[in-house]
Amino acid sequence: MAKKSIVLVLVLAMLAITFAGCGQAGKDSGKLVGVTMPTKSLQRWNEDGANVKAALEAKGYKVDLQYADNKQDVQNSQIENQITMGCDVLVIASIDGGALGGVLQQAKAAKIPVIAYDRLITNTDKCDYYATFDNYGVGKMQGEFIVSELGLDKGEKGPFLMECFGGDPGDNNAGLFNKGAMDVLQQYIDSGVLVVKSGQTKFPDQIAITNWDSKGAQDRMDNLLTAYYADENIDVVLSPNDSLAQGIVASLKSAGYGSSSKPFPVLTGQDCDKINVGQIIRGEQSMSIFKDTRDLANQVIAMTDAILAGQTVPVNAEYDNGVIKVPSFNCQIKFANKDNWKELLVDSKYYKLEDIPDAK
Ligand code: BGC
Repeated sequence: MAKKSIVLVLVLAMLAITFAGCGQAGKDSGKLVGVTMPTKSLQRWNEDGANVKAALEAKGYKVDLQYADNKQDVQNSQIENQITMGCDVLVIASIDGGALGGVLQQAKAAKIPVIAYDRLITNTDKCDYYATFDNYGVGKMQGEFIVSELGLDKGEKGPFLMECFGGDPGDNNAGLFNKGAMDVLQQYIDSGVLVVKSGQTKFPDQIAITNWDSKGAQDRMDNLLTAYYADENIDVVLSPNDSLAQGIVASLKSAGYGSSSKPFPVLTGQDCDKINVGQIIRGEQSMSIFKDTRDLANQVIAMTDAILAGQTVPVNAEYDNGVIKVPSFNCQIKFANKDNWKELLVDSKYYKLEDIPDAK
């Protein structure tokens, strides 16, 4: 009899543990999350990968983290592999968001929830959730910065000479950044206050930079400066992000910008990469947008927890991916420049002071 009761108690205890595991998805559940990131070549994805992995592991999840060298076919094989491994959730920061359809049908067949990370996965009905930042807001903030920096809102008529850059055409964010900025700037181009001497303003056809490559941006800027700015200084460059702004600054420097007769133009960016914070400190770049990837990681963990526990998933936005409306969460973006970078990035412990070039 006593033996039977002990067995019963043990069985009940085991059941309790099992159900506790269901309610608290991460905690010691041994659930496996497959995380795929686009590339190690840009600082932000290294940070994103590390943050997501650490935050998931702190919650008791196991994590398989992969980087794809900016090749969608490589990432698709990695995801396929994660499906075979039996991952419970897939978190995907895609390269070409429209080219995952096939592999996601496998995820659908295996009933594995998919969270698109920062970049929307398009042209498929298998994108269950999307965690990102306010992408349109990024472009709008960059456009509004240019307007206020040049005093266009105070009636300054210029004309100011500007060139525009866009991100990778396969990245859904790139179009949103461009739209946000152009919705602010187009009226000034139309009225002749901003003059784009090359005439190249159309995204993606005329201004996209494949893979967000710094060297690609540098080459395009070199060509623009040679062809259109041999006799006049350029006043403004709209760059959607920091990897492009790095190439643009390298080009401007080699063309002799950075003196009193040839000052650096107003130049935008996004991500607050360490190199770019150095550029801001040295006056080579005017601003960047801080997207705190710790917030994004926490949001992904909240989504993962809720999905696996069968609870309501926290969302505050919706993105149309061409096939379905994806329930989404937009994290907040913040403006960074020479006046607030330290408070934003160092005081918040995002970076150590010594990791930023020329920081004091
Ligand atoms: C991200 C940006 C990043 C860019 C290049 C975009 O999808 O939203 O933050 O600068 O990719 O990596």
